[in-house]
Amino acid sequence: MNKIIISPSILSSDFANLEKEIKRLEDGGADWIHIDVMDGHFVPNLTIGAPVVKSLKKVTRLPLDVHLMIDNPQKYIKDFALSGADIITFHYESNPGNVVEIIKLIKGYNLKAGLSIKPKTEIIKIIPYLKDIDLVLIMTVEPGFGGQKFMEECANKIKELKKYITKEIIIEVDGGINDKTGQYCKSLGANALVAGNYIFSQSDIKLAINSLR
Ligand code: DX5
Ligand code: ZN
Repeated sequence: MNKIIISPSILSSDFANLEKEIKRLEDGGADWIHIDVMDGHFVPNLTIGAPVVKSLKKVTRLPLDVHLMIDNPQKYIKDFALSGADIITFHYESNPGNVVEIIKLIKGYNLKAGLSIKPKTEIIKIIPYLKDIDLVLIMTVEPGFGGQKFMEECANKIKELKKYITKEIIIEVDGGINDKTGQYCKSLGANALVAGNYIFSQSDIKLAINSLR
């Protein structure tokens, strides 16, 4: 069986001590670092931008898994690429007419390109792009905030997605992931789990991460 990628979301970490938090994740065995970028337009919340990614790049060798929840993602790909993102995932809903161009932009920097869908978006919308991307990010909560309840019906989209997959692709889930919901997603075929609240609410990060494997 393929290894499961655990990508802790720093949205639930202590922003006053980001370097320490990253070290805790490294020591705990995290595979990637998930960075949630929100613009207050695409989602009703504001978080962090490329300068923070640049700073984090200096303190870790773990791949930076950047999740753009922003309008006009094409305007910001360059900034995030040059700041050290390793994977850039954007939302289908943010610019449905320019998906191919945005994927090309990301791939032009030799990065992994990911495409994400919100809970109400059907899998069928992203099927035409599967051949061009490295990762599909299925949101299992409405994007915008950490600590929300897992939506099982969204995870069930993995089953449909699997029918169309003909090459190696990462299926990542994000939102409300804990040991139980993570297990459920893995049983459906997810091979990357994002978790924020579940990991950072526990004092033993290693134990938390291992419980997701
Ligand atoms: C939500 C973000 C998630 C969030 C997950 O919009 O994309 O990455 O941090 O947080 P939890 O695991 O707490 O649901
Ligand atoms: Zn995310």
